[in-house]
Amino acid sequence: MTLAAPPQPQAGQRIRGSRPKPSGSCVFVIFGITGDLSARLLFPALYNLAHNGFLPEEFAVAGFALGDMNEDQLRDSLAKDLREVIGADCDTAIVDRLVKRLRFVPSDFDSPSGWQQLHQILEEFDKTYHTGGNYLYYLATAPQFFYPVVKRLAEEHLFDEANGQWRRVIIEKPFGTDLQTAHDLNSQLLTAVRESQIYRIDHYLGKETVQNIMVFRFSNGIFEPIWNRRYIDHVQITVAESLGVERRGRYYDKTGALRDMIPNHLVQLLAVTAMEPPSSFSATAVQNEQVKVLESVPPIDPEDCVWCAVRGQYTSGTVGTEPVIGYREEPFVDPHSKTETYVALKLAVDNWRWAGVPIYLRTGKRMRKRYTEIVIQFRNPPLTLFRRSGASMPSANRLVIAIQPQERISLEFESKIPGPIVEAETVNMNFDYRDYFEVEPRTGYETLLYDAMIGDRSLFKRADMIEAGWSIIQPVLDAWGEDHGGPLYEYPAGSDGPEAADQLIHHQHRAWRASS
Ligand SMILES: NC(=O)c1ccc[n+]([C@@H]2O[C@H](COP(=O)([O-])OP(=O)(O)OC[C@H]3O[C@@H](n4cnc5c(N)ncnc54)[C@H](OP(=O)(O)O)[C@@H]3O)[C@@H](O)[C@H]2O)c1
Repeated sequence: MTLAAPPQPQAGQRIRGSRPKPSGSCVFVIFGITGDLSARLLFPALYNLAHNGFLPEEFAVAGFALGDMNEDQLRDSLAKDLREVIGADCDTAIVDRLVKRLRFVPSDFDSPSGWQQLHQILEEFDKTYHTGGNYLYYLATAPQFFYPVVKRLAEEHLFDEANGQWRRVIIEKPFGTDLQTAHDLNSQLLTAVRESQIYRIDHYLGKETVQNIMVFRFSNGIFEPIWNRRYIDHVQITVAESLGVERRGRYYDKTGALRDMIPNHLVQLLAVTAMEPPSSFSATAVQNEQVKVLESVPPIDPEDCVWCAVRGQYTSGTVGTEPVIGYREEPFVDPHSKTETYVALKLAVDNWRWAGVPIYLRTGKRMRKRYTEIVIQFRNPPLTLFRRSGASMPSANRLVIAIQPQERISLEFESKIPGPIVEAETVNMNFDYRDYFEVEPRTGYETLLYDAMIGDRSLFKRADMIEAGWSIIQPVLDAWGEDHGGPLYEYPAGSDGPEAADQLIHHQHRAWRASS
């Protein structure tokens, strides 16, 4: 493990594309350390960062959670989970080192003695591991604790930055449940901490392929000139999950697919796909452009919700070869639930570049397969040049940016089928990450944790971005809340969603790209 003393990058100074250095010294404080997120994603991300030499020597972890474990039990439990998640290649020296530098506050967030203990631990770390009074807090807690914990941190002076120290807080999703609650939460947080100290996370932005969209668009001469209404017919963004609600029935039944996925993940993919080139890759310049494009999405007219927003709920079916139960039979779900597990939307971006180009979003649970992709569908060629030789109208070119499970970019174009007749078939030109780069195992959180440690906010969301995301879906939430705006369609688990979603796009003589 390389934990050698690094030249420390300055806040916001990392140039993407240059080789990153280990982050500066700090304590990583996880509120909710005994939870699922911490074991399944945060600790594996820390492991991967350490494994690749991105964590400095001067690093330690503090955890705060109710928990019925003591410190040793928590260490054992996290080490065991880490070994399971990382698998056979797990380097036990890294695991041992991470858990050895872990201290635990087993306490309610309300308890004064818990906060006293946290102060002591932070002071000890600063002395023992030279963590320099730099603290990165991670709120891996249910949303009702976001503001109380931030407020308490402020009251305890744990956001005070003196003598070059930094203090930052990463806030998980869900960020609000609608536009008003997101706005209220932003306002509350800003009474306790400065915006520049808040890192609102969306782990989709930690994915290499998502970051690569900006590089792909703005570092290549050939795509940007055709990335507009003159050449692009429409855009499709799909996030399909084959899993059901698992153990999250209680949360999900109150939330639904629209709230759970659209204002954060899908809207974020829309923003990177449709934004204008930023004046630089500084956080402010990138975020300004993303907010600008999101604010150009006109709210769906409530009258149009019936046909611009389709909702569905899965019934029992078969995913792959596995028979699965319907949503209403899932644990902790109301047997009469009207919560949507699928949503498809037709949106627009009213600006010079995108006027008249529909943007279709869809996401669902218990779909035929798990995949996330962005499809840029180009316009048809202006005429069928080979029609006299019997050739049919060629298919329009398509650029597919696959985000998961494969990380790939492919361009579909027409090619002549060998032989005496002029006949064309769609072929693919593929760029697969694995063919060119050594793809390290990743959780998607590595880049984001690292960026938060070096003070680079470009992959995090500003308050106005969060609110712009909610503004886009608020009319649909209102329409569905009042139970007008189209029926809740059923779809069998293991299918591609309700037929009504096909109608949404067919209506305009288009079709969803079939999952391969
Ligand atoms: N899990 C994921 O895959 C995932 C993905 C994306 C976002 N998120 C978000 O991340 C956050 C955490 O999710 P999670 O799945 O890790 O939740 P979780 O498993 O329920 O963990 C919640 C944590 O908070 C602690 N806690 C609860 N009430 C407390 C209190 N009053 N005082 C002190 N500690 C308290 C729990 O301690 P006990 O264990 O003792 O109860 C536990 O450590 C949520 O906002 C979620 O939406 C999760």
